[in-house]
Amino acid sequence: MTGGGDGNGENAIEVRGLHKAFGALEVLRGIDFSVARGEVVCVIGPSGSGKSTLLRCVNLLEEPTAGRITVAGTEVTDPEVDIDRVRRRIGMVFQSFNLFPHLTALENLTIAQRRVLRRDRPTAARIARDQLARVGLGDKEAAYPAQLSGGQQQRVAIARALAMDPELMLFDEPTSALDPELVGDVLAVMRALARDGMTMLVVTHEMGFAREVADRVVFMDGGLVVEEGTPGQVVGAPRHERTRAFLSRVLDPTAAEVDGTDGTDAADGTDGTGPTTGQRT
Ligand SMILES: Nc1ncnc2c1ncn2[C@@H]1O[C@H](COP(=O)(O)OP(=O)(O)OP(=O)(O)O)[C@@H](O)[C@H]1O
Ligand SMILES: [Mg+2]
Repeated sequence: MTGGGDGNGENAIEVRGLHKAFGALEVLRGIDFSVARGEVVCVIGPSGSGKSTLLRCVNLLEEPTAGRITVAGTEVTDPEVDIDRVRRRIGMVFQSFNLFPHLTALENLTIAQRRVLRRDRPTAARIARDQLARVGLGDKEAAYPAQLSGGQQQRVAIARALAMDPELMLFDEPTSALDPELVGDVLAVMRALARDGMTMLVVTHEMGFAREVADRVVFMDGGLVVEEGTPGQVVGAPRHERTRAFLSRVLDPTAAEVDGTDGTDAADGTDGTGPTTGQRT
């Protein structure tokens, strides 16, 4: 099961019977799904439904309680796996950008290439410049994160992940910390990436993006996949009442306010961040 994993038609991500508990709290309660190579899958669902936990299990930032996860032919849940080697093939972009504040955009892109992939300085810099240009920031290589807008910082974070030549990219609400006017540029970069054939698993509240870009949408609630299908099916014509209720809250913010924000499902209260649970990373 481990090994090269370049077989044809093999899934980029395969998740079987995934369970994750934090103490007594069962956050993932038996998740099965897969992402094919080149596919874009958007995961939607209320706050606290386990979306981030699912993503974090895929690259073993969280250790599953039970189940089996395979990434590009390598079983990451195999106790013998070289997880660093697997993680190198996975690009991850979070809500918060996690750039090094004391390094320029260019340096933020070269540091891991040099340390992890052992690229020499000129090679790392060339790849960094290519990727900064790809996200529309060719003129910002000397800027420090504090000199960039949130949207620009997030695009640097995407370029940084791309500079590592990932086989797939995981995105966890990459635009939800951004001012509305900055969201579009980041989504445009992600759209272009999808068009280039990148395999992407994207947790998002951007229904327009999901409808337009996703090959498949997965709706999660309460640690389970409630339904999945094409965007037209799941977002356009949801079969389950829970999906419909979620979508009406997301698509109509005034409904969300009446409901008490779309973070109400995190009512187990374990994150303890107060009233605005939606902004956890
Ligand atoms: N390290 C942890 N320890 C304890 N509980 C956790 C931990 N991480 C997550 N949880 C809990 O697991 C549940 C699912 O969290 P998760 O972050 O996966 O939800 P989410 O669907 O990503 O929500 P959001 O839309 O708010 O980001 C929540 O109840 C959360 O409080
Ligand atoms: Mg989350």
